[in-house]
Amino acid sequence: MIIQNKLELLPAISSSDIDIYAKATAIATMDPWLTLGVKAEDLEPKLAPHYSRRRVLWIMRNKDNIGVLILRYPWWRGIYIELFAIWPEWQRLGLGKETLNLVEAFLAPGDNNLWLLVSGFNHRAQQFYQKNGFIAIAHIPDLLVPGEDEILLRKQIEIN
Ligand SMILES: CC(C)(COP(=O)(O)OP(=O)(O)OC[C@H]1O[C@@H](n2cnc3c(N)ncnc32)[C@H](O)[C@@H]1OP(=O)(O)O)[C@@H](O)C(=O)NCCC(=O)NCCS
Repeated sequence: MIIQNKLELLPAISSSDIDIYAKATAIATMDPWLTLGVKAEDLEPKLAPHYSRRRVLWIMRNKDNIGVLILRYPWWRGIYIELFAIWPEWQRLGLGKETLNLVEAFLAPGDNNLWLLVSGFNHRAQQFYQKNGFIAIAHIPDLLVPGEDEILLRKQIEIN
């Protein structure tokens, strides 16, 4: 028998003959997922071809668009803020803080983390996030621009 070493990555969208629940069960019975208590029911939606964790949200105040947010969730027991901008004419009016409060409302029950990356040179945004309870977790050198750090920030929300 000739075994060809051809490896291929098949997009889920073109593999309708795969039994997703069976695969979810296979994962759930393997470590680390077994020890972590991850159930097949939790994994099944993640294996669905159209599963998307990315949401683009226009920030509206009355009828005005004042900024934009891109969120990814669920993400590390919370939400990853991939992009956040308030248009310049609306900045420093407390609307960024209000927007973060709205983001917290997207947290799934039991999840309590907000995550994001801020550039090392973006001192204004760093000050903003620090004022709003974010803490630096790690400095990642040369991630987006050579010679510049990206800083991983985390805010832990208190769950009552
Ligand atoms: C960071 C950002 C989302 C904050 O939104 P915001 O509505 O301006 O924030 P708030 O009004 O709630 O908070 C204001 C505080 O943020 C910081 N800040 C925000 N914009 C600032 C600016 N242009 N100059 C100086 N400080 C600024 C200050 O600490 C400020 O407090 P102060 O006004 O008492 O000095 C917004 O300024 C922005 O979109 N900036 C450009 C894009 C960006 O850097 N996005 C974050 C990428 S990770």
